[in-house]
Amino acid sequence: MSNNLENDIKQTLNSLIDPDLGKSFCDLEAVKQVIIKDGIIKVNLEMIGPVHWVAESVCKMSADAIGKIAPGVETEIVCTEKEQDNGGRKILPKVKNIVAVASGKGGVGKSAVASNLAAALSLQGATVGVLDGDIYGPSQPTMFGLVGGSFDAVDDENGNSIAFPLESHGIKVASMGFLLNRDDAAIIRGPMLAGYFSLLFEQLEWGELDFLIFDLPPGTGDIQLTMTQKIPMTGAVIVTTPQEISVSDVRRSIAMFRKVNVDILGIVENMAYFVPPDMTDKKYYIFGQGGGKKVATESDISFLGEIPLNMEMREANDGGTPIVIKDEKGYQSEVIREITAKVVAQVRRHNLIIWENPNVEISI
Ligand SMILES: Nc1ncnc2c1ncn2[C@@H]1O[C@H](COP(=O)(O)OP(=O)(O)O)[C@@H](O)[C@H]1O
Ligand SMILES: [Mg+2]
Repeated sequence: MSNNLENDIKQTLNSLIDPDLGKSFCDLEAVKQVIIKDGIIKVNLEMIGPVHWVAESVCKMSADAIGKIAPGVETEIVCTEKEQDNGGRKILPKVKNIVAVASGKGGVGKSAVASNLAAALSLQGATVGVLDGDIYGPSQPTMFGLVGGSFDAVDDENGNSIAFPLESHGIKVASMGFLLNRDDAAIIRGPMLAGYFSLLFEQLEWGELDFLIFDLPPGTGDIQLTMTQKIPMTGAVIVTTPQEISVSDVRRSIAMFRKVNVDILGIVENMAYFVPPDMTDKKYYIFGQGGGKKVATESDISFLGEIPLNMEMREANDGGTPIVIKDEKGYQSEVIREITAKVVAQVRRHNLIIWENPNVEISI
């Protein structure tokens, strides 16, 4: 019986559809093994990574499908990630996905979004690093409670000095702020920047990471362009506030990423509205409404969601613990987690294209 049942289960699983990618498990070559041993159905699925968000729903839909053909039989489903081709890149070879967080102008909450995105990914079980490349206003040291930090260096077995990022809440953090003071930022020039850059990207021992979140300096000048060209990014998330002046800067960011062929994973509208703590049924659109969604639609880019203006989020950032960690169950965290799940889905779409077209340069 077991052989036939194994085949039936395989067939059923092969017809399931990946919720992020809209493709069947068959097309995705996801069903690696189905065996029945000691009365237990054991299934091995291999999905396009990162699987941190999708694994739960994939396991559940598989268990439900199996339950229909083999009701009541104990089932064990393991969901792993497919080996990912990083194109032989030399920079950060052990980092699977590099996601830049960008904005057309400062003060829109780019760093707040970057730190919370990193924290939400980490809570979901991913290994995460944050690289604060903002030379003008590096704020990740504050947001992760690492102000005044510097890199620890040790000698490896060959006597070469190696340095490590700092760590906070289980997230690795490196910042231009650990290298520069504010006065240096004003006078920094290309060649100097290249040195700092090389330290953060090539000399620091980041180890294996599922995600490196890269907090870019605001704007679309030479420095941003150089950074986007040098770093092999999976894609970029653009942060804006709703008002028109901020949105018009977003158009410039979009143009910059398109020029250098970096995928834009989507647009996040931050400080979108305010819910008074004592009137939670009310939403006030302080900076206007719908600007982020409008620019996303007109540019054919995904709109990832709206983050409300929220006092606890500001306090959490200032206090060194991202709100998604500090108040895991709160509304603000829920909103940010939903946005993070959408970012991950976009990253998976990017990785699907690489898997389908190895050795091809892509843009989604
Ligand atoms: N949704 C939000 N609600 C409340 N405060 C926020 C929100 N987003 C950002 N902030 C705060 O606004 C300030 C500017 O945000 P920041 O992330 O530093 O901006 P940027 O990196 O774009 O310059 C910070 O004090 C941050 O904590
Ligand atoms: Mg910032």
